Amino acid sequence: MKRIGILTSGGDAPGMNAAVRAVTRVAIANGLEVFGIRYGFAGLVAGDIFPLESEDVAHLINVSGTFLYTARYPEFAEEEGQKAGIAQLKKHGIDAVVVIGGDGSYHGALQLTRHGFNSIGLPGTIDNDIPYTDATIGYDTACMTAMDAIDKIRDTASSHHRVFIVNVMGRNCGDIAMRVGVACGADAIVIPEKPYDVEEIANRLKQAQERGKDHGLVVVAEGVMTADQFMAELKKYGDFDVRANVLGHMQRGGTPTVSDRVLASKLGSAAVHLLLEGKGGLAVGVENGKVTSHDILDLFDESHKGDYDLLKLNEDLSR
Ligand code: F6P
Repeated sequence: MKRIGILTSGGDAPGMNAAVRAVTRVAIANGLEVFGIRYGFAGLVAGDIFPLESEDVAHLINVSGTFLYTARYPEFAEEEGQKAGIAQLKKHGIDAVVVIGGDGSYHGALQLTRHGFNSIGLPGTIDNDIPYTDATIGYDTACMTAMDAIDKIRDTASSHHRVFIVNVMGRNCGDIAMRVGVACGADAIVIPEKPYDVEEIANRLKQAQERGKDHGLVVVAEGVMTADQFMAELKKYGDFDVRANVLGHMQRGGTPTVSDRVLASKLGSAAVHLLLEGKGGLAVGVENGKVTSHDILDLFDESHKGDYDLLKLNEDLSR
């Protein structure tokens, strides 16, 4: 193996640049040539491929987004898209690829490996919905950003004795909601993976008001329903002064946290070392603090399990 390609795919996540930097630097240090592929699998198919030198990834470890740009490209699930991508890899003499992204990206990495181009998947998504890793690249920063925003919402909520329903991202995963909810002292956290009772949440908010609490906060994961929809549900059970707020895409920006930068660096380095060992079709993660790798097929069989104890903890803390 002489040349590796690297791409970012799916929704961007803070720390993706740090991962690209790590892959590039470790690969060059081990005598490999590195090629950046812009716009994920769409750019691969279009041949948007360029050589990357060590200095090209300078001043990026602290920058969010992805300087390789990204795209969602479902067409790569089709044989035709894969063949076009492989033709581009051959044209540029690229033997192996590191793919940084969410679960869609792993499907692409697996297909490339099946076609003879060893590929390694790195978990790059704010959602934290990938199995076999304690965290995904971007999750910690997204939580920090959401926490910071909710702290600000709390200022105004307290001044007006209002209840705020705040939607956080996560697709079908409630991890951002749980972690941020605990960190912000939410009265309730509502996630797609677990049942909830709006009447019970309304009663809890009323009890908090009776105790003299000057604000209410319900963190609702976007995979459950919108903040507006939840607000409408809540109003059925009480005359609350309530506002709905959707944090949205701001959760994908902001300076990557130390955890995300270090995680991205570790995973990027591990990906190159696996490729150097001639391995492909693997997903790299960190489990109990140690870098591990698993067959990508195992990831499809397994579903991510969140730290649902946080819900009970939050209930105890919000009484
Ligand atoms: O997967 C990351 C994510 O930000 C999800 O949390 C969210 O549901 C989705 O992407 C939004 O996608 P888009 O950027 O295409 O609107």
